[in-house]
Amino acid sequence: MSPDQQLDRKTFERVRGLIHQRAGIALGDSKQAMVQGRLAKRLRALRVDSLPSYLDQLDGNPQSDEWQHFTNALTTNLTAFFRESHHFEHLAQQLRLAKGQDLFRIWCSASSTGEEPWSIAMVVDEVGQQGPRKVEIMATDIDTQVLQTAAQGIYQLERIEGLSVARRQRFFLKGQGPKLGRCRVRPALLKRVQFQQLNLLSGRWPIEAPLDVVFCRNVMIYFEKASQRDLVRRFAALLKPGGHLYVGHSESQFHCEDVLDLVERTTYRRRAP
Ligand SMILES: C[S@@+](CC[C@H](N)C(=O)[O-])C[C@H]1O[C@@H](n2cnc3c(N)ncnc32)[C@H](O)[C@@H]1O
Repeated sequence: MSPDQQLDRKTFERVRGLIHQRAGIALGDSKQAMVQGRLAKRLRALRVDSLPSYLDQLDGNPQSDEWQHFTNALTTNLTAFFRESHHFEHLAQQLRLAKGQDLFRIWCSASSTGEEPWSIAMVVDEVGQQGPRKVEIMATDIDTQVLQTAAQGIYQLERIEGLSVARRQRFFLKGQGPKLGRCRVRPALLKRVQFQQLNLLSGRWPIEAPLDVVFCRNVMIYFEKASQRDLVRRFAALLKPGGHLYVGHSESQFHCEDVLDLVERTTYRRRAP
């Protein structure tokens, strides 16, 4: 099978098994064309002539760097600044309620290309002295390529079109000359977020309790129900009582009522133990 040939069922099942094992992502049947298109690019880059031989090479090298490319190729990274904006309004309230608190810790756990953590950072900056003394924002993702984009904070101008003029001026620098048409997050905001790679499905997370807020939005939809429930419990264990978990608009049914209260659609609050 050449890189561009139709993906057969057996090969698709193999890809499906491997990405599930690596990232917990459960690819639906409708994803065959997507898988084929994305992996064909890897095959061309590596000059490998067929997907089965690419998969053989991966299988034979559990430590190979190619695993990261394979994972990066199969993640879906759709995101936007202030997506599902009600969470950011809720966050601003929580920050104000925590006025005077020494440290307020936020984990953005599937940060993709950075629009979500930069939106969090903008809210933190806007609340400023009306909030906690210090705010830590940790942003993680399994995909190293999107993390690189996120940490650079450089975007096409269209990406920030939906932001108010005040936010655009306060938080972004417009590119000039060869950088025309792009913008970059201002250095003062860049300092507010720490990025690192993290697989949500791994048994150990380098994130310590207690957290005030966890964003885990629009990633659990790619996982099976059992993994989603397990994840939500692990987030709850990291949150301080009264801390909040934000999930995506189509993510629900976690059976976590003993540890989390649903306070408004897709916003959960950690119960006191
Ligand atoms: C659709 S984006 C959502 C981005 C952002 N949270 C939002 O709501 O706009 C999903 C992100 O989850 C990441 N992801 C997928 N599987 C993951 C895993 N096992 N651990 C951590 N991140 C993962 C993908 O790389 C991708 O960037």
